[in-house]
Amino acid sequence: MLNELKLIEAIFDYSTEGIIVCKNYSEIVMVNPSAAKIFHYTTDEMMGMEIETLIPKEKRDVHKQVRNNYAHQPVARPMGKNMVLYALRKDHTTFPVEISLSPFEINGNKYVVCFIIDITERLSTEEKLKEYTEILKRKNEEISYLNHALESKVKERTKELARVVYELSQSKNELSQALEKEKALNEIKSRFVSTASHEFRTPLGTILSSISLIQRYTKTEEQEKREKHIQRIKTAVVHLTEMLNDFLSLDKLEEGIIRYKPNVIIVPDALRQIIEEITPILKKGQHIVYKHLSDLTQCIVDAQILKNILFNLISNASKYSDEGKPIVIESNIAENNLIILVKDEGCGIPEEEQEFLFTRFFRANNVNNIQGTGLGLNIVKKYLELMNGKVKLKSKLNEGSTFTIYIPFYFNEKSKL
Ligand SMILES: Nc1ncnc2c1ncn2[C@@H]1O[C@H](COP(=O)(O)OP(=O)(O)OP(=O)(O)O)[C@@H](O)[C@H]1O
Ligand SMILES: [Mg+2]
Repeated sequence: MLNELKLIEAIFDYSTEGIIVCKNYSEIVMVNPSAAKIFHYTTDEMMGMEIETLIPKEKRDVHKQVRNNYAHQPVARPMGKNMVLYALRKDHTTFPVEISLSPFEINGNKYVVCFIIDITERLSTEEKLKEYTEILKRKNEEISYLNHALESKVKERTKELARVVYELSQSKNELSQALEKEKALNEIKSRFVSTASHEFRTPLGTILSSISLIQRYTKTEEQEKREKHIQRIKTAVVHLTEMLNDFLSLDKLEEGIIRYKPNVIIVPDALRQIIEEITPILKKGQHIVYKHLSDLTQCIVDAQILKNILFNLISNASKYSDEGKPIVIESNIAENNLIILVKDEGCGIPEEEQEFLFTRFFRANNVNNIQGTGLGLNIVKKYLELMNGKVKLKSKLNEGSTFTIYIPFYFNEKSKL
């Protein structure tokens, strides 16, 4: 029994919680060392003290009331009800406490035992925790904001990247298209240059051989022979010039340099002059029969381009006809069109190849033994496009061909061409 009492005494003395026992809920009758320490008193000083001494002045009246109410209905009140009360130390400083109350009776006297914990530390830790939680919350919000911003930036950049990739692939396509075009153009040019240089060789050879022959014809009676070779040289030069013109005008046409420069012309006069110029290149015995079919004779057209077109058509008519064959040319003016027909009795064009005739470098398979580059008709087509005109072809193999061109013009006040 003695031991048990000692044990209870030890619990009372060494408990880390402050323990105060009050008689009649107000007078302190027992104080353990922890309680004295919490309030900065000695245990002796506290003995007999009214409990309100340990309560801040402004709360004392309320406390007395609460205490009286409690005296009528004393119940145990455990700790940890989240109730923060304030207590008063000896030095008049206040501090937060948590208190549990347990009422009991001995010999008819009413007591209450109070367990007291100074929660200053805990509250400041809780405060700090709150603060840290708040900081953490803010940081979290910042992070989620940054995340969001980052996400939209990534989205934006991805979009931008996709656009750049698309643009890159576009320009790659454009580049490869341009390269392809360039390649094709180069191919055509080199094909042309090789064909043209091949073509130049024959007339140049003719010129050279005729000149060396002329050199040998020194006698006066050989004048006729000399004339013949001079004529040959002339023809070869015309041929060379013609090819050069083809080459130059093709380039110019493609660059869009050649412009349509129409003038009033008297059709039969202009055509007779062209025929006169081209006659020297006709084959032996070939002759041109020309007719103008309309009463109207004037029209507005680019005379130089008209001449180029007719040179091509007439030289073809001559080239693809035998010696002695006639070439018929007819001009007409009808429905605001200048219509010119060039008809020969030559080798004709195979029907299945006629649709390709105006394609650059195209040559029909029945003319392999006749020199040519396959450019003339392509040039004719381009000239006509420039003038809004068109060309029609009728041809029968071994019978002959007829090329008819239509050039629209406007012979009225409005078109001061
Ligand atoms: N009057 C024609 N009779 C028969 N075939 C023709 C006639 N005119 C053109 N052709 C055919 O059309 C092809 C193309 O003619 P084009 O005038 O374009 O070229 P080319 O006469 O061969 O050469 P060049 O560029 O020197 O004129 C000729 O190679 C030929 O096969
Ligand atoms: Mg030709």
